Amino acid sequence: MTTTLYVSRDASALAVGAERVACAITERAAHTGMDVRVVRNGSRGMFWLEPLVEVATPAGRIAYGPVQVKDVEGLFSAGFLQGAAHPTKLGKLEDIAYFRKQERLTFARVGITDPRSIEDYRSHDGLLGLKRALDMAPADIVKAVTDSGLRGRGGAAFPAGIKWKTALDAAGAQKYIVCNADEGDSGTFSDRMLMEGDPFVLIEGMIIAGLAVGATQGYIYLRCEYPHAHEALKSAIASAYANRVLGNDILGSGKRFDLDVRLGAGAYICGEETSLLDSLEGKRGQVRAKPPLPAISGLFGKPTIINNVITLASVPIILDKGAQYYRDFGMGRSRGTLPLQLAGNIKHGGLVEKAFGLSLRELLYDYGGGSATGRPIRAVQVGGPLGAYLPESQFDTPIDYEAFAAIKGMLGYGGIVVFDDSVDMAQQARFAMEFCAIESCGKCTPCRIGSTRGVEVIDRIIADHSRAMNTTLLRDLCDTMVNGSLCALGGLTPYPVLSALEHFPEDFSREAPLPLSALGGG
Ligand SMILES: Cc1cc2nc3c(=O)[nH]c(=O)nc-3n(C[C@H](O)[C@H](O)[C@H](O)COP(=O)(O)O)c2cc1C
Ligand code: SF4
Repeated sequence: MTTTLYVSRDASALAVGAERVACAITERAAHTGMDVRVVRNGSRGMFWLEPLVEVATPAGRIAYGPVQVKDVEGLFSAGFLQGAAHPTKLGKLEDIAYFRKQERLTFARVGITDPRSIEDYRSHDGLLGLKRALDMAPADIVKAVTDSGLRGRGGAAFPAGIKWKTALDAAGAQKYIVCNADEGDSGTFSDRMLMEGDPFVLIEGMIIAGLAVGATQGYIYLRCEYPHAHEALKSAIASAYANRVLGNDILGSGKRFDLDVRLGAGAYICGEETSLLDSLEGKRGQVRAKPPLPAISGLFGKPTIINNVITLASVPIILDKGAQYYRDFGMGRSRGTLPLQLAGNIKHGGLVEKAFGLSLRELLYDYGGGSATGRPIRAVQVGGPLGAYLPESQFDTPIDYEAFAAIKGMLGYGGIVVFDDSVDMAQQARFAMEFCAIESCGKCTPCRIGSTRGVEVIDRIIADHSRAMNTTLLRDLCDTMVNGSLCALGGLTPYPVLSALEHFPEDFSREAPLPLSALGGG
């Protein structure tokens, strides 16, 4: 009898040797005459346990991890194909609190199914949302998405249903669905994990979006640094065409949707939706002034829906289980679930999909297990490089868009980067400003010039040259950037800078004064 094993092909698992482990298992099985099938699935999102190996047994999947090549022989001798004891045995992952306490809606299949098999996708409730959508009028699909309360997961949290309604109502023989898979924020990896672990759910979500607004062509704009996601998408798209899920006769309905992947060249600003459109059109990625909104005049001037990977991948379950089912998760105006990503100095880094409403503290300690170094957590940056640095006194803030806005923070993508008490927050403030200077598209002055001057001013504050005056100047500059920038790169960079200044003022007076010549001026 064939025994099925699962070894993740997710980039996080490959980085710690999963490929070698999978090969060693296959070789050992051949050597000992064991009949095994190794499925290369996505990651379950518990990175400290990778490379993780799961064995399908009559009692369910039994996990072992982290497994190294040197463990493989011992695992076979111990009888791991029957789920036997071994020092790396973890048991059923569903019994581990980190996993058991999650509410996996969008990531329901990630780490479970074979991302290269559309049959596996179908047998785990895949395509049910699409089948329902095919029987619905476009306006009813849009209504379901609106009623679910789904807001964009790419940062701005704009209600998806309102955007879709705008595109539906816009006149145009050709409309487009664009998936923003640029995922440039520090500490984020949920888009990548989803595309590598369950690419079909994104494809299904994009087809539903096409049916909803009358678009027949979709593009996934993928950052070029994601080769494994690219492979997974290419394979899934080919198999979706072969199975008439994509193309001119979606599941025999006579309706059409085509889908292509386009690789970005790696600029952070190309994640901003209008720069992304310029880049997709073959131009240098630069921010466009709005209006017009992309939903009215987007790609090649046509009505275009641009949504983040997780936003689109959340749509199939809404259509399948109903708007109310999805809406019942969450708090306030933040409905559904958010795949949170724990990164930086954290013991248990990985992905936690939870309904909105748990606190940052629960996430950091109950899931994350505190810092990796064992030292106190001093600060976290939530929401990527444009998110505020939050001190311990704000760790009880619930994961909710409005609650974060109230403390001048931002949930953004749900990426959380953790720092222990050895961090220098003045250097972090400088880093935030420097990041903006490097990544600015250069279109508007407050961002292009302001961020460069901002780095210089922070250097002067740290070096104690006219500290009080330069601190006033920095606040003034930040005010100009917030109010005068064309897009959120320049407009939000002041938040991490000012939060560091506000919550960690002692770090701005740490270093000994430098000669002005070292700073390049006064
Ligand atoms: C500088 C900058 C970078 C951005 N990068 C991304 C990104 O990598 N991925 C993403 O989905 N949204 C990104 N966004 C947000 C997009 O502009 C846009 O709001 C999003 O794609 C809309 O999709 P959603 O409504 O599903 O979130 C970025 C915005 C800015 C200002
Ligand atoms: S704020 Fe910066 S990135 Fe945005 S348009 Fe202006 S120069 Fe470009």
